[in-house]
Amino acid sequence: MHIHVDIAVKSETDLFLFYSPHISLYSREEKIYCCPRANQRKQKTVLKGEIFFASRPNQKFYEMIQNFRETLEITPISTTDLIEAYKICVCVRKRPLNKQEMNRKEIDVVSVPGNGALLVHEPKQKVDLTKYLDNQVFHFDYSFDETTTNDMVYKFTAKPLVQSIFESCMATCFAYGQTGSGKTHTMGGDFTGKQQNSAKGIYALAAQDVFHYLNHRRYADLDLSVYVSFFEIYNGKVYDLLNKKAKLRVLEDDRQQVQVVGLEEVYVTTAEEVIRMIQTGSACRTSGQTSANANSSRSHAVLQIVLRRNDRATTLPLHGKFSLVDLAGNERGTDVSSNDRSTLVETAEINRSLLALKECIRSLGKNSDHIPFRMSTLTKVLRDSFIGENSKTCMIAMVSPGMASCEYTMNTLRYADRIRIGLAGFHIIIIFVFQRATELVKAMEKTSYNIEMGLPDIVDHSRKLMGLCNAA
Ligand SMILES: Nc1ncnc2c1ncn2[C@@H]1O[C@H](COP(=O)(O)OP(=O)(O)O)[C@@H](O)[C@H]1O
Ligand SMILES: [Mg+2]
Repeated sequence: MHIHVDIAVKSETDLFLFYSPHISLYSREEKIYCCPRANQRKQKTVLKGEIFFASRPNQKFYEMIQNFRETLEITPISTTDLIEAYKICVCVRKRPLNKQEMNRKEIDVVSVPGNGALLVHEPKQKVDLTKYLDNQVFHFDYSFDETTTNDMVYKFTAKPLVQSIFESCMATCFAYGQTGSGKTHTMGGDFTGKQQNSAKGIYALAAQDVFHYLNHRRYADLDLSVYVSFFEIYNGKVYDLLNKKAKLRVLEDDRQQVQVVGLEEVYVTTAEEVIRMIQTGSACRTSGQTSANANSSRSHAVLQIVLRRNDRATTLPLHGKFSLVDLAGNERGTDVSSNDRSTLVETAEINRSLLALKECIRSLGKNSDHIPFRMSTLTKVLRDSFIGENSKTCMIAMVSPGMASCEYTMNTLRYADRIRIGLAGFHIIIIFVFQRATELVKAMEKTSYNIEMGLPDIVDHSRKLMGLCNAA
């Protein structure tokens, strides 16, 4: 059923509210209205379109997910929540459905109940064609839903790391996920149309806080200076984004110190200078000879904020370093449709670096002596960040909510999950088993105890559950 509508809106925000899957808007025009109370003439935007019902391609799944969501208890993250100081923090951010996905009437298959949890409602079909949802739960240190701002994500992820570099730490923050999931939006700043607002990303927010701490009483005596470098790693090669994409060599000396030879490290005195450098570097990054976006999605971008002690000697010793990394899209790992040689080489390189990164973070988490940093250029360049007591890392896994991205979303979450599982102890392993052993969940749901009747039953039942755990 279709109904034609005219909707008057006052602002772009109102307009966004009308991008409902049930409303298709096909034209906009400006109209003059009389405002009787104020006796004024006002201009409003009128949207012409139509409302339609039940014509979504996956209506059945949509309804199943909506029904499931009604049973969820939602605890949205709030500014007053406790921010914990993690050595390694793994979190997830879901972006909203974009305009194209809305136009395709895609359904949103990701729910974020809060408290670090995230659910994927994977649409499935049985052999007899009955539709069902495979609801998979993931747990991270924090989970951010589609309404969360960059400011909020920053507050819980990179902000605690900024202070740590003043305490001589090597900090890293990674944005991981498929192309289009929001990595550059989170790190580099949000977009208004094609224009990126570089002051609103984690890069800029971190730079602002660096200067805040630099002038803080507590750190003033350290006599530090701030330097910035910005480079891209594409196909295992390093390109300087602050020097017209000059190709640089990565060398390792006999003391295993890795150097990017000739990398520009610019002395900066204000956050505004850093923001200008981010703009220059980002513009340089996306101006490829071929498709600009495709190119940038196949490279890792690394912004480093370096603190050096103002020594009389010319060497300016390193005090702390914050590396902020916008990783290459991880989707190509499973993309086998393109098979020309250069794509295959590129894919292999991305896979290798993302695998190396996972292994290095896991080794860091286990305080292992062996860090496999030589596996890729990315991990070689970031070697400092994986060694020693003073390393801190944060991984933000970005997910797209649409049903068409479900497979990539699951890959991203599994990757982040593997990092987290490697870190924590037994309780995380239990969560891991829970995700996979539906039998176990069912067994627990069916059971209720009368604690007063005594403990032996619980002990007995725990043994049975452990048996299931082992079998899973
Ligand atoms: N949290 C978000 N809120 C609103 N729009 C977002 C969000 N994350 C991403 N987007 C939009 O989605 C599109 C793709 O995001 P982008 O950051 O370029 O993805 P990626 O770098 O992972 O390829 C951009 O137009 C961006 O503005
Ligand atoms: Mg990007």
